[in-house]
Amino acid sequence: MKLKINDSFYISDIIATDKPAYLEYLQEKQIYDQTLAIPFPYTEADADWWIDHNLEATRSQNNRSVNWALRRADDKLIGGVGFFGHKIGRDHKAELGYWLAKPYWGKGLMTEAVRKVAAYAFSELELMRITANVFVFNQASARVLEKAGFKLEGLLRSHYKKDGKIFDGKLYSLLPGDLNLPVT
Ligand SMILES: CC(C)(COP(=O)(O)OP(=O)(O)OC[C@H]1O[C@@H](n2cnc3c(N)ncnc32)[C@H](O)[C@@H]1OP(=O)(O)O)[C@@H](O)C(=O)NCCC(=O)NCCS
Repeated sequence: MKLKINDSFYISDIIATDKPAYLEYLQEKQIYDQTLAIPFPYTEADADWWIDHNLEATRSQNNRSVNWALRRADDKLIGGVGFFGHKIGRDHKAELGYWLAKPYWGKGLMTEAVRKVAAYAFSELELMRITANVFVFNQASARVLEKAGFKLEGLLRSHYKKDGKIFDGKLYSLLPGDLNLPVT
C-alpha cells in the first residue's frame, strides 16, 4: 500500500529497516506523554517488537497492513499511523492512532495523513466507523481529528491512568459521510 500525501511525504508499509528512525524519533518525552502505548525511553527491543508484530500481522492478512509509516520523499520514516489490533473482515470499526516526529509538527502533515488513511480504510479495509481517543489536554491531536471531519462523541471522565495520574479523555468518531477531504 502507498498513499501520497504531497510531493514531499507519503504513507507506506512498515519495514525492518525503519528501526533506526523509530529509535531516533521516539526518544521524545512529549510523544510518550500524549500517547498510551508508546514506551519511554524507547528501546531496541521496543522497535524490534513493533516491527515484527506488524510484519506478522500483515502476513496473516494476505499482505494487507493496518499500521503504516509516514515517510519523507527519501523514504525515511518520520511518523506512524494505523489501527492497532484491527482484523480486516472481522471488525467493522477500529481505533486510529498516530504520532509524528517532533521536527515535523505544525505543518498540517498529520491532518492530511489521517484523511488519506481514513479514506483508504473506508474503501479497502471494510471499516464503517473509525474511533480516536485523545487525552483531554492533547489539543493538537483533537484539532487534527476535527479538521479531518471527526465528531466529538463525549468526554470520558477519569478514563485514563498514566504514571499514577488519572485524567479525562475525549472520544471522537468518523463515519464515511463525515470525512472532510480537502478540495484539490
Ligand atoms: C498530534 C500530532 C500528531 C499533530 O501532528 P501535526 O502534523 O503537527 O498536526 P497538524 O499540523 O495537522 O494540525 C495541528 C493543529 O493543532 C493545532 N495545535 C497545535 N498545538 C496546539 C495547542 N497546544 N493548542 C491548540 N491547538 C494546537 C495547530 O495549530 C493545528 O491546527 P490549525 O491547522 O487549525 O492551526 C503531533 O503533535 C504528535 O505527534 N504529537 C505527539 C503524539 C500524539 O499526540 N499522538 C496522538 C495521540 S491521540
